[in-house]
Amino acid sequence: MKLCIIGVGYVGLVTAAVFADFRNFVWGVDVDKQKIKKLKKGEVPFFEPKLKELISKNLKNKRLIFSSNIGAAIKQAEIIFICVGTPAKENGDYDLRYVFEAAKTIGKNIKKYALVCIKSTVPPSTTEELRKIISKYCAAPFEMASCPEFLREGSAIDDSLHPARIVLGVESKKGKEMLLKLHQQIKAKKYIFNIKSAQLVKYAANAYLATKISFINSIASLCEKIGADIEQVTQGLGSDPRIGDQFLQAGLGYGGSCFPKDTWALISFAQRIGYDFKFLKEVDRVNQQQIDKFIEKILQICKGSVRNKTITILGLAFKPNTDDMREARSTLIIKKLQKLGAKINAYDPKAVVNAKKILKNVSYFNELMPALNKSCLLVLVTEWPEFRKIDFNKVKKIMKEKKVIDGRNFLDSKKLKALGFQYQGIGRN
Ligand code: UDX
Ligand code: UDX
Repeated sequence: MKLCIIGVGYVGLVTAAVFADFRNFVWGVDVDKQKIKKLKKGEVPFFEPKLKELISKNLKNKRLIFSSNIGAAIKQAEIIFICVGTPAKENGDYDLRYVFEAAKTIGKNIKKYALVCIKSTVPPSTTEELRKIISKYCAAPFEMASCPEFLREGSAIDDSLHPARIVLGVESKKGKEMLLKLHQQIKAKKYIFNIKSAQLVKYAANAYLATKISFINSIASLCEKIGADIEQVTQGLGSDPRIGDQFLQAGLGYGGSCFPKDTWALISFAQRIGYDFKFLKEVDRVNQQQIDKFIEKILQICKGSVRNKTITILGLAFKPNTDDMREARSTLIIKKLQKLGAKINAYDPKAVVNAKKILKNVSYFNELMPALNKSCLLVLVTEWPEFRKIDFNKVKKIMKEKKVIDGRNFLDSKKLKALGFQYQGIGRN
């Protein structure tokens, strides 16, 4: 099939690469000309396992074309995917101006029947607005559809090839058949819904996963008060198949490009249609509170003050296996510690380049050990697998004070305590 992907950011690029690999003919277009220039050379603007290889392979096969000529890409397409960002505004409300802009460009350029499929995460009422915008400019027949993505950064290719399910929102038999054909190589169960339901599935899924995280973090707070251990509680809780053990990892709370933005968007959307989503507001409040509680912990272990103390932050990305700093918990923690007068050393295997753009006055390190030299406190923020291999016998000798705060309950607390470290996790006894 001939596809046009508008917006080759995180989601658009993965979508383009995967569909090209399924032997479709894919144009990836973007308003960012610099990005397109790099992509044409096979340079991927962010770190995502397996993506570079998939793009190179399909560039060579000429099944994948990157271009700034959005009009030409639209004209040839049978299916047009809108994958532009839907960022949150300062007040948490959603900003749909890029999807509206994409709709206008589509309207001006469709010359024959096309299926316009929204992959960007948008409130369920958006389709009608997009339809109106496209119709205003376009005489050719077109239909709308929705194809929400559920991929996680760090495992985006595997998630795309082996998803838990595929949700397709359609308004006609033709749209349904086109999308089923496009996804035929993926073995997962396919759900065909109306467009509004499909879009609500996406918000509901992210809001529910965020809820699980805030819930377990609340239970972790109880653990701290009574001397229970969240790791044990989670094991017992998660082994009930009705509950499940995923997304129950207590820690610093959720960050990233989706959970915070999508919970805020759902709260805003609900407000607009007359429903006060108090429950989800609380999920968000707990998530914000995790940071304040964590700072309290740091102050406590540092005997009330971090002024002029060197604190080492391990892990900056919003989660492991990505260099994405969007809504990363490290940002809030570092800014708060800096306000309190701390000197920050930071190490991350992939995210330093992006972190430098948003966090100033931080000493960044390309290697882990030097970042800990003469440090008063090690703070683990992102659970990169390599942190499990840290040689704490060596660390012991180079740190000024043997103190560790583990924001992801990732390190071996027993081992650390045996080595003489003062250790604190989240809700860990
Ligand atoms: C996507 C979105 O679909 C979002 O709604 C969803 O919740 C998560 O996934 P993401 O791919 O992470 O967002 O965004 P980003 O990496 O910022 O990419 C968006 C791309 O669209 C950028 O490359 C940007 O240059 C491009 N863009 C933006 C356009 O091509 N046209 C525009 O008008 C605006
Ligand atoms: C998420 C959804 O999982 C995905 O389906 C959707 O399409 C996009 O949003 P992503 O943001 O890439 O994916 O990462 P995810 O692995 O879900 O983690 C999000 C945040 O939650 C991270 O900050 C992570 O550290 C945190 N998290 C996750 C927890 O704190 N505890 C957990 O148990 C799981």
